[in-house]
Amino acid sequence: MQSKNRHIPIAFAALTLVAGISIGAATQEDEAIDRGKKDFVEVGCYQCHGYQGQGGPGGRIAPKPLPLEAFTRSVRRPANVMPAYSPKVLSDEQLKRIHKYLESIPEDPEVSTLPALSEE
Ligand code: HEC
Repeated sequence: MQSKNRHIPIAFAALTLVAGISIGAATQEDEAIDRGKKDFVEVGCYQCHGYQGQGGPGGRIAPKPLPLEAFTRSVRRPANVMPAYSPKVLSDEQLKRIHKYLESIPEDPEVSTLPALSEE
């Protein structure tokens, strides 16, 4: 009995460690998303693309933004009227976080799943 119980604190410590690591990872991800959102607003993307990237003068860029590489290209060398953002103004790190923020925006629900719109 005595010898069995000796392992419990060790197992508990190991579990706590694993939980701590995964919670740590989740917070880091959330932090990146939060900072991305801040940059999105501070740099002014929202002015043309809306706070949720839902679009305005600049079209919809979320949910489901372009893959990071194409996304970066569109921001560094925009197709037409969008101002270009050089790495001096907006670093790759910031751009990655903005992309994470846009990826975190949930998709709209299907219209048929909205009770107010499906009732006769
Ligand atoms: C002054 C308005 C304006 C601002 C500010 C702006 N955009 Fe745009 N954006 C546009 C327009 C307009 C387009 C369409 C392409 C063009 O005309 O250059 C576009 C296109 C894009 C595209 C390509 C979308 C696609 O599906 O091809 C991405 C990605 C994008 N913008 C991201 C951003 C990000 C990120 C920021 C902030 C760093 C930003 N934009 C700031 C107006 C703007």
